[in-house]
Amino acid sequence: MPYDFDHSPFRHGTDSLKWQRYGTALPLWVADMDFITPEPVLTALHQRVAHGILGYGAPPEELTETICARLATRYDWAVTPEQIVHLPGLVCGLNVVCRAIGGPGDGVLVQTPVYPPFLAAPGNQERRLLTAELTAEPDNGWLYYRFDATALAAAIDSRTRLFILCHPHNPVGRTFGIEELRQLAEICEQRDLIVCSDEIHCDLLLDGRRHTPLATLSPDIARRCITLMAPSKTFNIPGLGASFAIIQHPELRQRFKQAMRGIVPDVNILALSAALAAYRHGDDWLRELLVYLAANRDFVVDHINRHWPEIRTTVPEATYLAWLDCRDAGITGNPHHFFLERAEVALNDGAAFGPGGEGFVRLNFGCPRATLVEGLERMGAALASR
Ligand SMILES: Cc1ncc(COP(=O)(O)O)c(C=O)c1O
Repeated sequence: MPYDFDHSPFRHGTDSLKWQRYGTALPLWVADMDFITPEPVLTALHQRVAHGILGYGAPPEELTETICARLATRYDWAVTPEQIVHLPGLVCGLNVVCRAIGGPGDGVLVQTPVYPPFLAAPGNQERRLLTAELTAEPDNGWLYYRFDATALAAAIDSRTRLFILCHPHNPVGRTFGIEELRQLAEICEQRDLIVCSDEIHCDLLLDGRRHTPLATLSPDIARRCITLMAPSKTFNIPGLGASFAIIQHPELRQRFKQAMRGIVPDVNILALSAALAAYRHGDDWLRELLVYLAANRDFVVDHINRHWPEIRTTVPEATYLAWLDCRDAGITGNPHHFFLERAEVALNDGAAFGPGGEGFVRLNFGCPRATLVEGLERMGAALASR
């Protein structure tokens, strides 16, 4: 069935964070796409609202079973319903993990540049943030990120208890391959770390790539792994907050649930309906979405290559986020401010993504092609007037 990704409803004045924060600037920032969610999700939501009572939600068994079936089909991962812990958001999950593992002053390791809540969660829970920078290698003029296993291991100290992995990685768009995951798993095993693998973007692999959940590598990594997933990015329902953790080791799961007590609300009843409908009936839409996103990605990287050779970009393997190195672009000051003020285009400021992010911006291409064209034209005009 053909889906229309070329048009988007007008989002100004709809209490959208993306469209409100920067006023009239064209928003190509936060990870929220300008696409209407699949029709079965909307139907499920209409039906839920039509019932008229919006009381506390209780995750239906059907949803948990659907998630388990999906993990088995897509990733060959045998997960049982009791191993799923429903959550009202992934950032909430990151904070719960930091709260659950270790004690005040213990270290939490992350690879930067990274989605900013990874940097904030340890401190929010009185843990110590440790960072290891990913290394960017030029690859045919593009930016390609890898991690350096030696540098990663060197960042671990005697009080490090937790490693938080972003897989696929936001903002660098990498989907880590089995060999890389093995190396990461080995480090966690040798240093006896719990690992939290944020796999929120796992359904958004481009060009037919296949996601491998970290926990599927071996029974040993599975027992020390907390995986976070959600239908929110995949089906563009991030405002509903439906998400979940997969924790196979019973004691680890108990610690996680204990850390949730009293502070984590139940998943709301609309999110439950939307998640179930999305997972059951959204995959045709998802297949076409991925084709559209890959074409948008190609358009962005081709545009940058042809018109702005002084800016280097990643070629994302997953996500709808491109990561642009503007350090040689002759921009005075912060490129996020430059594009906001001179182009009226709102991008994410790379500096917020931690070490290795300064001088970069993140561009969200999860939007109709016409919006992307307008954004790039505005950016081009600003660059021409430097
Ligand atoms: C890696 C990653 N984790 C978590 C989130 C946010 O999750 P939530 O909105 O469910 O808190 C995002 C959103 O961009 C993300 O990129």
